[in-house]
Amino acid sequence: MPEPTVPRLEISKLTRRYGGRAVVEDLSLSVPPGQVTCLLGPSGCGKSTTLRMVAGVETPDAGEIRVDGELICANGQGLPPEQRRIGLMFQDFALFPHLSVADNVAFGLSGAKDAQGRRVAELLERVGLGQYGAKYPHELSGGEQQRVALARALAPNPSIMLMDEPFSGLDNRLRDGIRDETIDILREQGAAVLLVTHEPEEAMRMADEIALMRAGRIVQKGAPYNIYNAPVDRDCMAFFSDVNVLTGRVHGALTETAFGQFFTPGVPDGDEVEIVIRPQHIKIDFDRNGRGPNPTMAEGTAVRGVVQRARFMGNESLVEFRMDHDGSLMRATVPNVFLPNPGNALWLMIRRDKCFLFPKRDLQSRIE
Ligand SMILES: Nc1ncnc2c1ncn2[C@@H]1O[C@H](COP(=O)(O)OP(=O)(O)OP(=O)(O)O)[C@@H](O)[C@H]1O
Ligand SMILES: [Mg+2]
Repeated sequence: MPEPTVPRLEISKLTRRYGGRAVVEDLSLSVPPGQVTCLLGPSGCGKSTTLRMVAGVETPDAGEIRVDGELICANGQGLPPEQRRIGLMFQDFALFPHLSVADNVAFGLSGAKDAQGRRVAELLERVGLGQYGAKYPHELSGGEQQRVALARALAPNPSIMLMDEPFSGLDNRLRDGIRDETIDILREQGAAVLLVTHEPEEAMRMADEIALMRAGRIVQKGAPYNIYNAPVDRDCMAFFSDVNVLTGRVHGALTETAFGQFFTPGVPDGDEVEIVIRPQHIKIDFDRNGRGPNPTMAEGTAVRGVVQRARFMGNESLVEFRMDHDGSLMRATVPNVFLPNPGNALWLMIRRDKCFLFPKRDLQSRIE
């Protein structure tokens, strides 16, 4: 029998309160060796607080943290940060200004000097700064400094790496390269990575698993594909893309909308539901003397709208419509170039297999 793998990092029921308000609540998560887990969520949802508790610079009010099965924090007490075998890379990284690049990278290393030198050279090479060892931080660009900080964090071979928006200071082209390289290095070392970001694209690009946070809790966890394609609620869906929302009231397991009836099983009669659809799943068709295309099984009934604006976005065009039937705005994206003039009437249809149905949120959950 294969041995059950012990998670490299295991967080159970972690809670942190400030002035009576829980900013992280009952949060559990485990990261096996070589996996990148991304904490993704809006500003203030508790991402950094979670990371700081794992790092040991913040004390949880409740919950436990284990590294390779070993308890490092429980009952509000834990190992000091330097004994946790955890590497940190935060957005506001600080290099030591009076140390050379090589000495900055060597800072956390112990052991023989020549072995240290080899490790430093190897890491500087990997982050593309092989020739920079003798320079000082003020002689480097922001992006280069960030790469030194990365090499410094990687040098002691941490078994866990915590990263809090580490790439946000870099321009796009540089960022993609450094991101991919960083993750490659960490995977190779078998480190468990907990990465914080509020950018869905970054999370999708880097993470094996995304933990979507809201108000101190994880609301959904899974592989990027699953999170994107099986959102648990409208907000989780809207975190990754624009959405269009139709609302309707259920009657006999059906909900009537301008786009036709939707089958809404399991929702009691009289309840409101939201039918949510991404802009890329709306189909646009031409006006035929005031009439649209015929209804189909796959796309329901066409509804007329008037183009408000159309924008070319690079890979796709975004078209906004004011709908005739209720004056609402709907957004559709079309691959490549499609730029109809404002004022044009076109017909929209919805790809039914791409719709999500959610019970309409009551007032209480909207206030939260
Ligand atoms: N030391 C503190 N004292 C009181 N409240 C705090 C403290 N640190 C954080 N908070 C509050 O806890 C909540 C979570 O903060 P946290 O920094 O974890 O958010 P975040 O998800 O990292 O947000 P961002 O994406 O903006 O960095 C916020 O409402 C913040 O104001
Ligand atoms: Mg933060």
